[in-house]
Amino acid sequence: MNNQPELVLLKNRRPDRPATIEEYRAGGGYAALAATLGKRSPQEVCQLVLDSGLRGRGGAGFPAGRKWAGVKEDAEFPRYLIPNTDEMEPGTFKDRVLVNADPHLVIEGIILSAYAVSAGKGIFFIRPSYEMDAELIERELEVARDAGFLGGNILGSGFSFDLEVHRSAGRYICGEASAQVNAIMGKRAHPNKEVHMAHQGLWGKPTIVNNVETLSCVPGILRQGPEWFKGLARTESGAGTKLYCVSGRVCKPDVFEMPIGTRLSEILDLAGGMCPGAEFKAVLPGGASTEFMPKKFYDVEMDFEPLKAVGHRLGTGAIIVFDKNTCLVGATLNLIEYFARESCGFCTPCREGLPYIRDLLWRIEIGEGKEEYIPLLREMARHMDRSYCAFAPGAAAPVLGLLNYFEEEIREHLSQKKCPYKGLGIEFRDSLIPMEKTESTAPENS
Ligand SMILES: Cc1cc2nc3c(=O)[nH]c(=O)nc-3n(C[C@H](O)[C@H](O)[C@H](O)COP(=O)(O)O)c2cc1C
Ligand code: SF4
Repeated sequence: MNNQPELVLLKNRRPDRPATIEEYRAGGGYAALAATLGKRSPQEVCQLVLDSGLRGRGGAGFPAGRKWAGVKEDAEFPRYLIPNTDEMEPGTFKDRVLVNADPHLVIEGIILSAYAVSAGKGIFFIRPSYEMDAELIERELEVARDAGFLGGNILGSGFSFDLEVHRSAGRYICGEASAQVNAIMGKRAHPNKEVHMAHQGLWGKPTIVNNVETLSCVPGILRQGPEWFKGLARTESGAGTKLYCVSGRVCKPDVFEMPIGTRLSEILDLAGGMCPGAEFKAVLPGGASTEFMPKKFYDVEMDFEPLKAVGHRLGTGAIIVFDKNTCLVGATLNLIEYFARESCGFCTPCREGLPYIRDLLWRIEIGEGKEEYIPLLREMARHMDRSYCAFAPGAAAPVLGLLNYFEEEIREHLSQKKCPYKGLGIEFRDSLIPMEKTESTAPENS
């Protein structure tokens, strides 16, 4: 276990521009590539990543080496790797900072990971509002190609791989791995749980989708070994560092690279603490798809297992901070409006349930709530578990957090017949769409 933060992913971060390939190489960049391609077998690379304990940073925390091992040695070719930079989870902006800090770390991580599963082609999937970042990656891919790190027979190793950038059409569900594959193939971007992606992903061929932060951990693991990577963590069960992005009512919202398992309180200190005059009320610990955590969790270790042990999730590590004057009914309503709009409409609990939850929250927020809405909200939020993909349970998480820890705040709305926070802090009412103007998210052809 380590208490001294060692920067692995953001060590080349500069205030004004991305690190160049020369700067990346000066710190040992691309050394792992030269020492790996054609010198270690893909299976060895897989094993090292498995031994390192690296877990996916895209939200679910699935072990990267285990995912890769799903592509069997005799699996079909071509094989694909999709670095996921969709990042449409509200509050999450770590991947953008990473890509801008050190594009060649990201590129080297992608090439090494592609080697581990013998993928010949990569598709860098990025949200359309990240156009500048897409252009940056395209430019730096050209630089990497000129240096001989991409293309045919890389560094004379016999391994060939190239990467292209694919701009998403811009829906949150396109971040979900199987929906992403559908989107790239030009199909309607809804999830597909019927295929095992390691066997039949993109164009029916073996495909691995990984978050770019996950992939960017790989060069370090191969250069310095799995034990070094494990030792970076502050928890026994954790491995590596984590990009925590902090937003909301703090003085210095930013992305902070810290050992995984750093306590929430320490991360909030790095973010400059609460804004002047603001008092801590709650956080969403891992993006909008996680539950509110009140003050009693202020010192929790921000890692997968410690959070799971207290009934919470690390998610993307995006910490959104709320203060005492912010209405959590309004904040939850704000999130649910987003989720209801972004539902792909494929399955009923999500398509119909999220607008229903939104309506209940809206009535409570404007002072027209009723006591019976509280159990109804809980029932509807739990009903989201019956949906087809992880989107709807994620959308329900802040609602459950609100009910589990801040039911009293809902009751204050009921008893006062208005939002008790009006005029005190951040208000969400102005953004509310009058109910009669909302539209069903049901797709026309279903
Ligand atoms: C609605 C939804 C949106 C998602 N968006 C993203 C995303 O933007 N980026 C990402 O890496 N993973 C996202 N995921 C998770 C992916 O499905 C997948 O688990 C992840 O990309 C795998 O990478 P990892 O194992 O490296 O974490 C999303 C999942 C869901 C259900
Ligand atoms: S849960 Fe929502 S996003 Fe997922 S398949 Fe169903 S409708 Fe689509």
